[in-house]
Amino acid sequence: MIHKWLHYFPIYESHLEPYRGRDVRLLEIGVSHGGSLQMWRDYFGSGSTIVGVDVAPRVAELAGDGIHIEIGDQGDAEFLRRVAAEHGPFDIVIDDGSHLPVHQIVSIEALWPTLPESSIYIVEDLHSNYWAAYQGGRHVESTFMSWITERIHDLHAFHSEEDGFAPNEWTHTLNGVHVYDSVAIFDKTTREVPEHRKTGWPSFDDVPGVEPGGPLEPSHQRQLDALEGRRARLRRAQRRWSTRVGARFRRS
Ligand SMILES: C[S@@+](CC[C@H](N)C(=O)[O-])C[C@H]1O[C@@H](n2cnc3c(N)ncnc32)[C@H](O)[C@@H]1O
Repeated sequence: MIHKWLHYFPIYESHLEPYRGRDVRLLEIGVSHGGSLQMWRDYFGSGSTIVGVDVAPRVAELAGDGIHIEIGDQGDAEFLRRVAAEHGPFDIVIDDGSHLPVHQIVSIEALWPTLPESSIYIVEDLHSNYWAAYQGGRHVESTFMSWITERIHDLHAFHSEEDGFAPNEWTHTLNGVHVYDSVAIFDKTTREVPEHRKTGWPSFDDVPGVEPGGPLEPSHQRQLDALEGRRARLRRAQRRWSTRVGARFRRS
């Protein structure tokens, strides 16, 4: 038996399809009746390795062809690291275990450093984060939803102007967070300081320090003249270059 919300399937298809047919290693926390482990094995193919983790000892008997089961508590970071060392590195992790925010946080923090480049980490059933029985609530700071918000900040830390808000391990390894109703997906990659470039010609003659259309001092006019001079030189160089390339092309 499988137990999943129906709207998860198109979300999974869009993120997991690129891994199909590859020798993927998938870890699912929360086995229950084992149906989802069989589904993943079927979806990814015979080259895949599927590992299920659950606290309930009875599920050990659900291990089978390409499917391994480890019994333990997802709140135990050491246990999860042992599973990753034995069966990983995992390309895909799905947390469908206790759905307690504290467990969701412990698990991703334990497993994330063990994941390889281009791996993904999925957390299911995040609606639990809004339920009192799961120590949830919209303004409760200890929820996984609040934890996600911190990671979104980390993602932007390369652009920080604030003391104490600097790039950390998440800034360097988190490529993106996709949040859907009750599902969050984290992409892992190696990130360096982002760069930006300009190409093409400016549509307006902006002068640094002057509002567009504002009064121009003689020094500003000199900056504009210098800019026009540089542009003219660039246009001449471009014309010389295309003449040379054209001539070479005609000769060949
Ligand atoms: C929602 S079910 C999993 C459903 C299954 N993944 C599926 O799609 O059909 C949740 C499972 O998590 C297990 N679980 C609960 N607390 C856990 C914990 N602390 N660590 C590991 N597994 C836990 C339960 O025993 C149960 O089998």
